[in-house]
Amino acid sequence: MSDIAGLTITPLAEADVPAAAQIIRLAFGTFLGAPDPANFWPDRDYAHGRFHAPHVAAFAAMRDGALAGSIFVTSWGSSGFFGPLTVHPDLQDSGIGKALVARATAQFDAWGTRHAGLFTFAHSARHVGLYQKFGYEARFLTAIMVAPARAGAAGGAADGWHAFSALAPAQRDTALAACRDVAETVLPGLDLTGEIGTTAAQKLGETVLLEGPGGLAGFAICHYGPRSEAGADTCFVKFAVIRAAPSAGADFVRLLDACARLAGNLGVSRVLAGVNLSRRGAYRAMLEQGFRTEFQGVAMHRNDDPGYCRPDAWVIDDWR
Ligand SMILES: CC(C)(COP(=O)(O)OP(=O)(O)OC[C@H]1O[C@@H](n2cnc3c(N)ncnc32)[C@H](O)[C@@H]1OP(=O)(O)O)[C@@H](O)C(=O)NCCC(=O)NCCS
Repeated sequence: MSDIAGLTITPLAEADVPAAAQIIRLAFGTFLGAPDPANFWPDRDYAHGRFHAPHVAAFAAMRDGALAGSIFVTSWGSSGFFGPLTVHPDLQDSGIGKALVARATAQFDAWGTRHAGLFTFAHSARHVGLYQKFGYEARFLTAIMVAPARAGAAGGAADGWHAFSALAPAQRDTALAACRDVAETVLPGLDLTGEIGTTAAQKLGETVLLEGPGGLAGFAICHYGPRSEAGADTCFVKFAVIRAAPSAGADFVRLLDACARLAGNLGVSRVLAGVNLSRRGAYRAMLEQGFRTEFQGVAMHRNDDPGYCRPDAWVIDDWR
């Protein structure tokens, strides 16, 4: 039971996931001034995919037995983020959001997450103020960027990349171990294998495995389709990383190209990818490769920890 009368914060029950998805639509649609908030974002789903992901914890704010809001907390090994966080518009400004942020922060403590944060609206003093109360500091902007798809390629030796879903089960284990090694080079303990596994298991998209002379050079976890987080006509790079090496800049450009060609192969017209502006090399390379910023928000980091937000980290993510 929280300090607010009639409010409890509990693990989100499967039966409440549709209601959570509906509050997500309504809360963001209302905040962003959509004409029909109840039907906002009909082309994507943040609730079901995350609820069914083993590396994500989902919490419900229950008020008098009904769902008032929810928060999803994702673990990428030593790093993690929370979101989406939503409270039903009729129940906002009564402390429910704070109770959910407190629960997410306790979850990071329980997991031992060393680098934790969130992405929020940079222009909103209310949002930044809310998260600051819990020790999250506003740092660099994250640009959510788009680029056109390129003539398709299915992936294979000639293309320099492979699709994770094309691998046999035994090869998948080897590939996951290689992905862990690559992520480890930018942040000790950074582990995306849960995200790769659930993307494949739930058929939310595809992971691109980029080959290099010494093995795996990098990978990109891409979402597409209405059950995913991508949005219509879009291949969304949820996370991508390149092994720290002298060839990293060139490898990053090859990985962007592979994602654009996967998009072409899927028949969608654009690639969507978020990059934190502290990652100067990655941001500049994306601009040079034709990406343009669609909108931007701010990354807030617990205890001001920079994590993998530094000029030479070739990482794409947006923590939405
Ligand atoms: C953001 C959201 C989850 C907050 O939930 P909520 O239940 O309304 O928030 P709470 O009542 O618990 O907390 C309000 C806090 O916001 C902060 N706040 C509000 N206005 C503020 C301002 N002008 N300046 C600084 N801080 C402010 C304060 O910390 C306040 O806490 P206080 O009352 O102790 O001062 C909710 O408004 C929502 O669902 N919005 C739409 C979706 C969304 O934007 N989600 C978050 C995306 S990152």
